[in-house]
Amino acid sequence: MHTVNRLLGLAILCVLTTLLQAQDNVGMARYNDENQLNFPADTDQWIHLGSSVGSEYGDEPFDPQNPGTLGVVQMEPAAYRYFKDHGHYADGTMFLLSFYASEGESSPQLPGFVQGALQAKEIHVIDRERFSEGRAFYLYDAQAPAGTLSTRMPDNSNCIQCHMPEGAYDGTFTQFYPTIRDLVSE
Ligand code: HEC
Repeated sequence: MHTVNRLLGLAILCVLTTLLQAQDNVGMARYNDENQLNFPADTDQWIHLGSSVGSEYGDEPFDPQNPGTLGVVQMEPAAYRYFKDHGHYADGTMFLLSFYASEGESSPQLPGFVQGALQAKEIHVIDRERFSEGRAFYLYDAQAPAGTLSTRMPDNSNCIQCHMPEGAYDGTFTQFYPTIRDLVSE
């Protein structure tokens, strides 16, 4: 009897492990029926991946006196843990890019720039189950609270046209993200 129970326990454990491994979705992205994405809650707790200065998507030359916006990229924490454990992005992985004004006036006055007002937010979500392009891009106003719905950028948007060929890993710019760039094997 004892052995039977043991075997049963082992069998249940095997099934559970397989089920957990098969679950390849962090499930944090919330959509409505039209694939509009709710702006997520608690983004202040997301993992910081990297920051850039003056990297807007225009062709204007960089001006050190007026460097443009500061971009801050963060990753949803459950997706980050999944990525660290498995070496690839789960479906539902979200990245947030927040653009801040570069503020030259500060107290005490620094020689450089600090982060000023938030100007815009963008989300890139990886989801192979849901989207034929394997991902979707969304724009939000700076002040958009959690729950705000945004419509997906259309297929073959300029977002995907730059991200897929230029991003070092799976359409993301890991080459600019010190937190994860060494974890990417490709
Ligand atoms: C011309 C190239 C280009 C285009 C077009 C572009 N991006 Fe990006 N994107 C970048 C670069 C470069 C980064 C790296 C972060 C940085 O430099 O600020 C980035 C990073 C991001 C990130 C952080 C996660 C990641 O994928 O690396 C998001 C979110 C994002 N972009 C959203 C968008 C959205 C939404 C659009 C379309 C409205 C878009 N991007 C269009 C170049 C581009």
